[in-house]
Amino acid sequence: MAPIDPHSFSDAAHAFVSHVSLALYFDFATTTIDGTALLSLSRPHTGSLSLDTRSLAIHSVADPATLDPLPFSLDSNPDPIKGQLLSVTLSDHHHSLLVRFSTHPSSSALQWLSPPQTSGKRLPYVYTQCQPIHARSIFPCNDTPTARIRFSALLNLPGHMSAVMSAAHVRRRPPAAGEGPDDERWCADGRVVEEFRMDQPIPPYLFAFAAGEIVSREVGPRTRVYAEKESPVLEAAAAEFAETEAMIRQGEKLFGEYEWERFDLLVLPPSFPYGGMENPRMVFLTPTVIAGDGSGAQVVAHELAHSWTGNLITNASNNDFWLNEGFTTYAERRIVEVVQGEERAALNIGIGWSGLKEEMERFKDNMEFTKLRTNQEGIDPDEIYSRVPYEKGFQFLWRIERQIGRPDFDEFLKKYIAKFKFQSINTQTFLDFLKESVPGIEKDIDLGAWVDGTGIPADAMEPVSALYAKIVSLAKEFKLGRMPTEEETADWGGQEWELYLENLPKNSDPSQVQALDARYVLAEHMNWEVKVAFLTLAASVGLRDYHAAVEKTLNSVGRMKYLRPLYTALVTGKSKDEGQMLAKRVFSEARDSYHPIAQGVVESILCKNS
Ligand code: BES
Ligand code: ZN
Repeated sequence: MAPIDPHSFSDAAHAFVSHVSLALYFDFATTTIDGTALLSLSRPHTGSLSLDTRSLAIHSVADPATLDPLPFSLDSNPDPIKGQLLSVTLSDHHHSLLVRFSTHPSSSALQWLSPPQTSGKRLPYVYTQCQPIHARSIFPCNDTPTARIRFSALLNLPGHMSAVMSAAHVRRRPPAAGEGPDDERWCADGRVVEEFRMDQPIPPYLFAFAAGEIVSREVGPRTRVYAEKESPVLEAAAAEFAETEAMIRQGEKLFGEYEWERFDLLVLPPSFPYGGMENPRMVFLTPTVIAGDGSGAQVVAHELAHSWTGNLITNASNNDFWLNEGFTTYAERRIVEVVQGEERAALNIGIGWSGLKEEMERFKDNMEFTKLRTNQEGIDPDEIYSRVPYEKGFQFLWRIERQIGRPDFDEFLKKYIAKFKFQSINTQTFLDFLKESVPGIEKDIDLGAWVDGTGIPADAMEPVSALYAKIVSLAKEFKLGRMPTEEETADWGGQEWELYLENLPKNSDPSQVQALDARYVLAEHMNWEVKVAFLTLAASVGLRDYHAAVEKTLNSVGRMKYLRPLYTALVTGKSKDEGQMLAKRVFSEARDSYHPIAQGVVESILCKNS
C-alpha cells in the first residue's frame, strides 16, 4: 500500500480513475441518488484497485464490456474521516469498471431541502459541497486532488425541475432506456434528463451540481447569475456582480487566459455552508454576500481567482491547502485593487491580518496548524479549517513580491501558472520552482520558517493604510471608554465596521457594547459580517438581551463562518450557562436546515464545550 494523500484510500501503485460517466437518478422522496458510474482508468490495471466511498451502498461492480461481475469488498469498518475503502479485483488488464450504487440520505456532500425550506415552496432542492473530501459520498472515486478526472453526467429529475453543474450543459431531453440504473424508474412519465460534460481534468472536489426550481439573469458576456425562482436576491445579485467581466479581464492580465469558457454564478439557499465555492464554470455563493455594498464582489473576485490558482494548479492534498487559498487570497486582492481601489485592497489585507492573529490564539495549544505545510494524517480537514492557509499564505507571497518587486513577481506568477496548469502539486514543487526562477531567494527570505515554521514570521507585515490604522486605533480607544463619533464613522461601510468590531476585545464592558449598538444599530446591520461580528461580541461579553437576535440569525443562515463564532461565543462567553442551553436548543431546532458538513462542525463545538 502506497498512500498518496492522508485523506484518501487511493494507492499510488494502482492506476487512477481518469474519466467518469455518471447516470444519476434523483429520488427526492427518499433523499437518495441511485446511480451508475462507468469509471475509466488512466492505464490498464490488473489486481486490486482502491476507491474512496462514504456512506454509499454498492450494489454491483461489473466489467462494462461483458457485464460480468467483478469481485469487490466494501470495508465494513468505516474510518471516521476517510470513509469506506471499496476494493475491486481486476483480472487481466482492465481499464474500466461499471459500479451500481446509491447514496445515503446522510451523504456528507449533499443537502436536500424540502419544498417548505426553499424560496418557491413548491419544489425540493438539492446541492453539493464536495471540497475537501465529500465527493466520495456521491460516487466512488479516487477522492484525492492528485487524481484529476474528466466526466460526463446524466441527471434524471422530475420534469418541472432543472439542474446546473460545474460542467458544460449539453442538453435537456427525455430519458432513454438503457442509460440509467433502472429503466422503469429512469424512463417513468414526467422525468427529464439534463446532460453535462466536463472535458478538462479537474480534482474530484470540484465536482458539483444543484437541482431545483432555478432561474437566471444575464450579467456579462460569459456570466449569468442563477438562483432559486422567487429568490429574494436574484435582481440584487445581478447588480452586485455587474463588475464580474472587469474582474475576469484583470485575472487574465495577471495569470493568463481564462481557460474555463463560462464563469457563471449560482446563488444558493441561505444554508450554503461557505461564502463561496470555486466550482469550475459555475461558482457557488451564499446569498449573504449580497449586501449591496460591494462585499459580494470581493467573494466573487476570490472564487474567480481560483480559476487559475486551485482549479488550474491544485494542491496535491490538503497538506498543501495554502497553495490553493494563499495564492487565491493574493490574487483576489490584486483584482480588488484594480476594480475597487487600493484603499479597499489594503483594508482587506488588514481584516486578514487581524484574522490571522486571532487564529494564532485559537491554535495556541496546537501550533501544527499554524504552519503552511501541514501534516493532516488522522486529522479531519473540516475540523481544522482556518484562515491560516489564506492569510499566512497571502503574507508569504506578499513578502516575495516585496523582495523581488511587483514586475518580476507578476512575471513569476504567469510562468508558474503556465508551467503547472492542470497539475496537482505540493509545497516542495512550488519551493523548487521559486528557487529556480529567483536564484538566491533563500538567502533573503527564510523559506523554511515560512512554510514549516509555526506562528507569524517576523517579516510578515501589516498593511500600510491610513484607514486601516485609524480603525484599529479607534478600536483600541474603545477599551478606554471612547466610542467612535458619527463624524468618524460617516463613510464606514460593512468592511470598516467588520474590522472595527473584530478588533474590540472579547472582554469589553457589556454596557459599552450595548451603547455602541444603540448608536449605530449593528445587531441589525444589512451586512452579515457586521451583524455577526457584533452579535458574537455581544454573546462573548454575556449580553443576554441579544440572545433572541443570535437565535434568529442561527435559524436563518447555515454559513459556517457565522455558525462557528456565534455558537462558540454562546457556549464559552460570559453567560455560558444560559448560552449553552440556548445553543443546544437552537441547534436541535435548526440542525435540519444546515448542510451535513455544518451540522458536524456545530456538533463538535457543542461537544467540546459541555
Ligand atoms: N474553496 C473555498 C471554500 C472551501 C474551503 C470549501 C475548504 C471547503 C473546504 C473558497 O474558495 C473560499 O475560500 N471561500 C471563502 C470566501 C472568501 C475567502 C472570500 C468563504 O467561504 O468564506
Ligand atoms: Zn478559496
